[in-house]
Amino acid sequence: MIDLNTLHKHFVDLYGNATDKPRLFFAPGRVNLIGEHTDYNGGFVLPCALQFGTYLFIRPTADNRIRLASQNESYKGDILLDDISKKVENHWINYPLGIIDQFRQLDILVPGFEMLYSGDIPGSAGLSSSASIEMVTAFALKTMLSADHLEMIDLVKLAQRAENQFIGVNCGIMDMFAVGMGKKDQALFLNCHTLEYKCVPLELKGFTLVIINTGKKRGLADSKYNERVAECQLAVSYLDRIRPVSRLGEINFMEFFKEQDLIPDELIRRRARHVVSEDLRVLNAVSCLQKGDLHQFGVLMNASHESLRDNYEVTGIELDTLVEEAQKINGVLGARMTGAGFGGCTVNLVKEDVVDQFITQVSEVYQNKTGLTPVFYLAEVSDGVKEILLNQ
Ligand code: GLA
Repeated sequence: MIDLNTLHKHFVDLYGNATDKPRLFFAPGRVNLIGEHTDYNGGFVLPCALQFGTYLFIRPTADNRIRLASQNESYKGDILLDDISKKVENHWINYPLGIIDQFRQLDILVPGFEMLYSGDIPGSAGLSSSASIEMVTAFALKTMLSADHLEMIDLVKLAQRAENQFIGVNCGIMDMFAVGMGKKDQALFLNCHTLEYKCVPLELKGFTLVIINTGKKRGLADSKYNERVAECQLAVSYLDRIRPVSRLGEINFMEFFKEQDLIPDELIRRRARHVVSEDLRVLNAVSCLQKGDLHQFGVLMNASHESLRDNYEVTGIELDTLVEEAQKINGVLGARMTGAGFGGCTVNLVKEDVVDQFITQVSEVYQNKTGLTPVFYLAEVSDGVKEILLNQ
């Protein structure tokens, strides 16, 4: 838990006291329940916002410098607004700088700011710590600058552009969307092409969502991620030869079944097969939640993992071990990797009264097999980005 009084004191220590008090904002992280690697294909996803996230104390200044610090990182930034145009090596400050850059591209006048961040989302775990930093910055700037013409969906799109253009990861829109639009105890069923969405109540009736962090950092993940994006584009270019197709998300499973031989390369065919079948699983998963059929929801989670392992090849020994062990336990309805993969976390639907046994059993086998210590979190599905009003 982050102590907000200590965070405020840290802000004053860094930037001094002034009559103008800093304001406080919060953006959560997210977990995706199903619909992986479908967002940048214009497909369906089903994420929800989590209890952990990023806090930001922010105050405008009279000069034209952006000062950035974080309780989680030693690297600090002090940058002239006019110098914000490209990445500062590989530092965390690129996430806020990318957002400020987007505001400036929209011709919004940004003054100097003093900013202090603090987050409790485990880093490199696939729970969207970067989207959380981006969205807390975007929402704080919009509020501080009274940019009322920017709706939440504009901030979501702006944060995705920052990630694509400034950071250089060709990610889809899911993470920013979940962090911005999250609703307590609801999952967000999103069509990533039209951006139409529906909140689906998570009535888990004696079951709970357990997230497990593999402890394996997602090294090389960004380049592998961009490689998958390119493979999907290649699949589309093959399918486009007989009729106009611009994204895998517009092809349903039966069409794909008939047309898949147009893709001559077996590997590319498997990548496309994952995306098209995952879209169908999301549709089925939503109707399971609506009907209260958690057993079938769990079956779909398991099938999603299998496809991510065999067709999309983004799992690895750590994620696979966690999922396999989880699936052996009575009372676990489903288990799958969540996020981009290549390390990071799994999400598991577990009967409440077996959670302790689940943790002991999965930990033991995982530790023996990989030498890594897994970390378990009980997910609390929460609201999206917001300002926290302080009594000052
Ligand atoms: C990362 C990306 C998302 C999405 C997932 C995979 O989290 O940021 O846009 O593509 O991977 O589903």
